[in-house]
Amino acid sequence: MTALLDRPLRVGLIGAGLIARQHLAALARVPELQAVGISSRTRSKAEALAAEFALPLVAESPQALVREARPDALMVLVSPQAMAQLALDCLDFGLPLFLEKPVGLSVEQAEEVALAAAKRGVPNMVGFNRRHYSVFQQGLARVLARGRLLAVHVEGSERMQAARGTGRFTEEVLRAWIFANATHTIDLLRHFGGEPEEVCAFASSLHEPLGDQFAAALRFPGGQLGSFTGNWHSPGGWGVVLKGEGVTAEFRPLETCRLSFADGSTETLEPDADDALVKPGFTGQLRAFADLVRTGILAPPSQDLAGALLTMRLAGRLIAPVRPLP
Ligand SMILES: NC(=O)c1ccc[n+]([C@@H]2O[C@H](COP(=O)([O-])OP(=O)(O)OC[C@H]3O[C@@H](n4cnc5c(N)ncnc54)[C@H](OP(=O)(O)O)[C@@H]3O)[C@@H](O)[C@H]2O)c1
Repeated sequence: MTALLDRPLRVGLIGAGLIARQHLAALARVPELQAVGISSRTRSKAEALAAEFALPLVAESPQALVREARPDALMVLVSPQAMAQLALDCLDFGLPLFLEKPVGLSVEQAEEVALAAAKRGVPNMVGFNRRHYSVFQQGLARVLARGRLLAVHVEGSERMQAARGTGRFTEEVLRAWIFANATHTIDLLRHFGGEPEEVCAFASSLHEPLGDQFAAALRFPGGQLGSFTGNWHSPGGWGVVLKGEGVTAEFRPLETCRLSFADGSTETLEPDADDALVKPGFTGQLRAFADLVRTGILAPPSQDLAGALLTMRLAGRLIAPVRPLP
């Protein structure tokens, strides 16, 4: 452990897609971590990323990556439908794992991986990068500076037609979109409000069998009220509104923050330099991962598999009452 404190931590990447590229750009800004190798299903894609980011090693398989690159930790960045199985496979290495979300396309899959990781005692972190947005930290701090947080409202309108139009996602992933992607915004209910004590949810389906129209009311442990809405076939997108005492913080789009005050004045908050230069939240979550690898402790606001499972279960509660639209 002492040796780990003295040098950058060696990280191996599995998966060579769009998000691996974003992580590599963020890694370049986090000197605590050093990318030492990559493996992926299609070797040529791993080679292209290795050339672009000067990675010293392209390995044939995750096993070869661990053997040849001798990483201190692994980042699993593969397609949503492959995440759960690869996460289970990677537990065998006993190395700390950073896992992109979603770890599983159902609550059951997420449970299986979380249970296996807990049994093996493998330190882990799931990539809910929005939790690390600098504008969220600043905006929440400004609300709390004036008193209590009173309400958390989240709009999670997915762009379903666009997601289908890209041709990048399998039907299995599109069908499970509530877990595959909508968990980003659903997780923000827990991030700002804590574990909801009561959830009253309605869901209906225009096209997606698990639901694409959502309205839910929530009560959080501090007594705050919350809401979640999502209309996946209507323009809107993602947004968060935090209500405080004489102040409202609105994040719409999520990467921006506009504060409104009781006297009618407004203020706009700017993201920090890291969030402005690479995918927002990515450097923050990488620093949190480095701390996890060094200390074995995952500090808030990061989520491990057990935390991610709670978000998956909340998503499950939001779709449970789904009915077809007449
Ligand atoms: N946090 C965020 O904001 C965010 C944003 C986007 C995506 N993501 C998540 O990041 C993950 C990757 O997304 P992406 O956009 O990078 O997808 P992508 O561009 O399709 O890349 C996925 C990569 O994983 C590889 N792969 C798939 N199955 C594999 C397996 N069994 N073993 C080894 N490699 C495998 C693919 O290989 P091939 O080249 O052979 O296909 C590809 O290189 C997804 O789980 C997604 O949900 C997170």
